[in-house]
Amino acid sequence: MKHDAVGVVDFGGQYAHLIATKIRSAKVYAEIVDPNAPFEVFKRFKGIVLSGSPALSSKDEASDYNHEIFELDVPILGICFGHQEIAKHYGGKVVHGGREWGYAIFRRLIEHPLFEGWQVEEQVFMSHYDSVVEVGEGFVEAGRSRVGEGVDEQRFSAIVNDKAKRYGVQFHPEVDDTVKGDLLLANFAIKICGCKPTWTMENFLETKFQETKEFVKDKPVFLLASGGVDSTVTALIVAKALGGDKLHLLHIDNGLMRKDESKGILKQLEALGLSKNLHFVDAGEEFLRGLEGVFDPEQKRQIIGDTFVEVLKKEAQKFLSHEYFLAQGTIYPDTIETGGTKRAHTIKTHHNRVPLIRKMIEEGRVIEPLRELYKSEVRQLGALLGLSREMLRRHPFPGPGLGVRCLCARGDEKADDEVALSFAEVCKKYGVQGFVLPLKSVGVKADMRSYEFAGVLWGVRYEELDEGVVGAILKEAEGINRCAYLLYPEKPSEHAVRQAYVTKERLDMLREADSIVDQVLRIHGIYDAIWQCPVVALPLVFGGMGLETVVIRPVQSSRGMTARAYRFSEAVLLDLKARLSSLDFVSAILVDLTSKPPGTIEWE
Ligand code: XMP
Repeated sequence: MKHDAVGVVDFGGQYAHLIATKIRSAKVYAEIVDPNAPFEVFKRFKGIVLSGSPALSSKDEASDYNHEIFELDVPILGICFGHQEIAKHYGGKVVHGGREWGYAIFRRLIEHPLFEGWQVEEQVFMSHYDSVVEVGEGFVEAGRSRVGEGVDEQRFSAIVNDKAKRYGVQFHPEVDDTVKGDLLLANFAIKICGCKPTWTMENFLETKFQETKEFVKDKPVFLLASGGVDSTVTALIVAKALGGDKLHLLHIDNGLMRKDESKGILKQLEALGLSKNLHFVDAGEEFLRGLEGVFDPEQKRQIIGDTFVEVLKKEAQKFLSHEYFLAQGTIYPDTIETGGTKRAHTIKTHHNRVPLIRKMIEEGRVIEPLRELYKSEVRQLGALLGLSREMLRRHPFPGPGLGVRCLCARGDEKADDEVALSFAEVCKKYGVQGFVLPLKSVGVKADMRSYEFAGVLWGVRYEELDEGVVGAILKEAEGINRCAYLLYPEKPSEHAVRQAYVTKERLDMLREADSIVDQVLRIHGIYDAIWQCPVVALPLVFGGMGLETVVIRPVQSSRGMTARAYRFSEAVLLDLKARLSSLDFVSAILVDLTSKPPGTIEWE
């Protein structure tokens, strides 16, 4: 089945993915598009949404996108920056000023299908510096907004031009704070663009069965089963489309798995009826050999990715004599991050896109049935395919596993003096004590990879470090991309980095700590409220005691592309502290407080 689609042009606004998600929840397929994509790409859609952006339309920032978009004869809805670009393109005027933050009341001036189901006044969410002050010919002012009672109304908060099929809203319909925003996006996709609401998980499955059969024909399919939701759902789709005997599953224990994970995964796959060609190889030694003496995060990723492919090829030769296809559980954010926009490609190499896999993709030998889906949609699909609740609620786990959570060091690392000085000063300004760790980790700042020091905050209670304080410190401190709270010991003592790489001994310690954190989250009933909680080992010794500093990194997120630090209650914190500090190897415990950006979820 072919689905009507809306293209969401991502100008780098924080919420572009939310726009796509919300349109999809109205059962219309939506896809993120690069602003500089060729005209042919835009022509595929029945409607286009132009997203918001950190750029200023009034100053012609980010204006080097493909303006052929405006030649399309399909409806275009601009949001915030997109709204201003539409106004400007068609002879209107945008100025720097008239900014509104947060909640506002939108007052509709006209009846229009875009606002079907909206009262005359509705609560909306605003976040802009620039505003539209004039519109070109054919445009109608559809609504105004005010940020509080008695405050002057802002004009042109919505504009429409039915003849040209151009629409714009200054507010963000994609965020939940715009109470009827979902309805507006559904109205746009269905009533204005005329898209049929056929994008359901049931239809998606049917389409994927069909596509898989046509693409693969009678060839065998090989799949690396990590035990995560994505690869398991992929396996079930392929098995149902082709029959279980065509699908070969290989679970590799790469030595970088969590405690007792491989055993559990094999049992799970068997319980799902995927045991027919289920293969297992313990390649832990091979992976660890490759990682000997390596401390650079990107190099670690390359080695892990390449070793996966080498083991896969070797194993495949054992039981597949002729050409086979490779199935992967790649999901939408992965393809966007690696292939599409400028960003995460430089931030980290995704293990599904190492050079050898890229080559197979070019040869047309890779199938990725989930490549259009967000994690929440994969979970819906998993439920349809009979995955247990326990499997569906599992936190995501990265392909390179604990390899990216075991930080390595040569042993001579030191914190930069200037960075340390400025960090301590910034912290003081906010009434906190702070020092810089002599170790760097990966982060993302202004859409670019950063590799910077981590700052540690102490001397106040954890509850006092609210998001605003941490955000301000991170914003003002130079050369820092993360902040963590010192949970144990209470005061920092002399500390030093020790030389350490990814070794079995370190991984075993990390597995122990990770399993304790996992238990605590479950016991306190907060496992489901958290997107993911990586536990990271730093080869950093405080006061000459123990071997590793353990970092707990709880985050809330809905797609993993942005994240907020999850905040523990005092009871959880005490429990974590008591259990982890009783392990001999634990020298210190940190709780990461960083959002993404400027940190990433994994430390690397
Ligand atoms: P970052 O660290 O970039 O992670 O903020 C975002 C999300 O992606 C997961 N992640 C990966 N998943 N292969 C995966 O399948 C990878 O190479 C990989 N690297 C990061 C990470 O755990 C988080 O959920």
